[in-house]
Amino acid sequence: MKDLLRTSDLRRVDVEMILDTAAEFAQHPLSKSEALKNRTVAIYMNKPSTRTRLASESAVAHLGGTPIFIRGDELQLGRGETIADTAKIISGYCDALIVRTFAQGDVEELGANASIPVINALTDDDHPTQLLADWLTIRETFGKDISGRKFAYLGDGNNMAHAWLTMGAIMGAHVVAATPSGKWAPDAAVVAKAQEIAKSTGATIELTDSAESAATDASVIYTDVWMSMGDPEAERAEKIRALAPYSVTNELMNLAAGDGIFMHCLPAHRGEEVSADVIDGARSVVWREAFHRRSTIQALLYHLVRGEIKGS
Ligand code: CP
Ligand code: NVA
Repeated sequence: MKDLLRTSDLRRVDVEMILDTAAEFAQHPLSKSEALKNRTVAIYMNKPSTRTRLASESAVAHLGGTPIFIRGDELQLGRGETIADTAKIISGYCDALIVRTFAQGDVEELGANASIPVINALTDDDHPTQLLADWLTIRETFGKDISGRKFAYLGDGNNMAHAWLTMGAIMGAHVVAATPSGKWAPDAAVVAKAQEIAKSTGATIELTDSAESAATDASVIYTDVWMSMGDPEAERAEKIRALAPYSVTNELMNLAAGDGIFMHCLPAHRGEEVSADVIDGARSVVWREAFHRRSTIQALLYHLVRGEIKGS
């Protein structure tokens, strides 16, 4: 596999290998400090980022390489140069490209035209690198045997919901997504793909509009912001009304399994998708999850550049 463009590009063996290496990097960040020696990695972002940018730049540095951060408005791409030409130029200077943008199709076009690995660092449709950090956190908390456990996502059927359903399918998990039906439900094609993956992994993919039924006996309750980057401001009031029943409060956490944890990719909006007492409480693992962004991106880069990820 050359690129990581979608979560569904990965197979469980790839994820397990990346997580094994990431666990090692979490303990010893400099254990492969020559892997990208004399190499450069471009990080091109068209949307804001705190974690993914810091994680990517520090991951490259810990592998001995040099990150080159490029803001969306700094390339000639914004002045009409094509994605294909840009991909060829970046391939001539750099050894990998990490990209955050709006359209999934743009990341795929970069991947198709670049000779170097291209990594999706969030699009409107997907967020594969986040799920690596999430599953390292899940594995650390519950171990590798997740049989009998339920993994619930609550809220907007957005890029995070897509990535969560897809990675759950890959990992053979029992995944439930509780979202409003209609406009803010996950994309039907993504759900169909997750269900197809689930057939071969033994996963169960369930959709519901009931936050309570999803949360009941869940080992993980996961949520994300209600207004994602690029969401139309004109829909804010309507969207917040529709999503209000999915707010993760203590009452909802009390329905979870006894050892159930709270996860969130961050940034968070306390009082909207999660209450302060939950995200800042004892069952929240959000800080560990956030710091695993670096070790997982480091492991992904390490294996991708070495051509060791087979892909689906
Ligand atoms: N979770 C995540 O992707 O955070 P940033 O938007 O800060 O990168
Ligand atoms: N759904 C959010 C995720 C942020 C990491 C967004 O796209 O803005």
